[in-house]
Amino acid sequence: MKHIFKQSSKKNAPVLLLLHGTGGTEEDLLELAKLIDEEASVLSVRGNVSENGMPRFFRRLAEGVFDEEDLLFRTGELHEFINESAEKYEFDRSNVIAVGYSNGANIAASLLYHYNDSLKAASLHHPMVPRRGVELPDLSGTSVFIGAGENDPICTPEETKELSRTLSEAGVTVEEYWSQAGHQLTLEEVEAAKAWYQKAIQ
Ligand code: MLT
Repeated sequence: MKHIFKQSSKKNAPVLLLLHGTGGTEEDLLELAKLIDEEASVLSVRGNVSENGMPRFFRRLAEGVFDEEDLLFRTGELHEFINESAEKYEFDRSNVIAVGYSNGANIAASLLYHYNDSLKAASLHHPMVPRRGVELPDLSGTSVFIGAGENDPICTPEETKELSRTLSEAGVTVEEYWSQAGHQLTLEEVEAAKAWYQKAIQ
């Protein structure tokens, strides 16, 4: 997958897996990563699917309606890509923390829904429920931050709460952050994610 890898100068630093929103690229969240932890390594990936030229991490049939078969395939593909990158760049596979926005948050949530060892933690900005009617793996020991907007027309508060509840039931320690904003990522939300991150990497 097209990506950027930046090695931290600090030994044993976490690896921030950056996952952009629809129409984004692997450049988009680099500044965000610096705000969260400028000493972390970074693996920033571009989604392999193109929707009218806009990169995404999996296909959708309509706004908010996911192509489940493609979601499963792409989730496996990303999981494998992280495994291969850990070997290639020699980082600790068990110390990967996802930071995803919108479509990128949805594929990160899908990694959690399908693998118990893909992510140590995840900062999900405006995520949706990736899939319904499936049993999640045991995710005890995993921490998740969910940044949500009370007025987000794409990720409704009900859907955010469903995701939060489903992850909690699988053993995840979830922290929700609510603003009155819509789908956009605000500086206040990033600051809340940073405070969560500092606890999550302990
Ligand atoms: C998705 O398709 O993943 C969500 O609707 C968010 C987005 O617009 O990318």
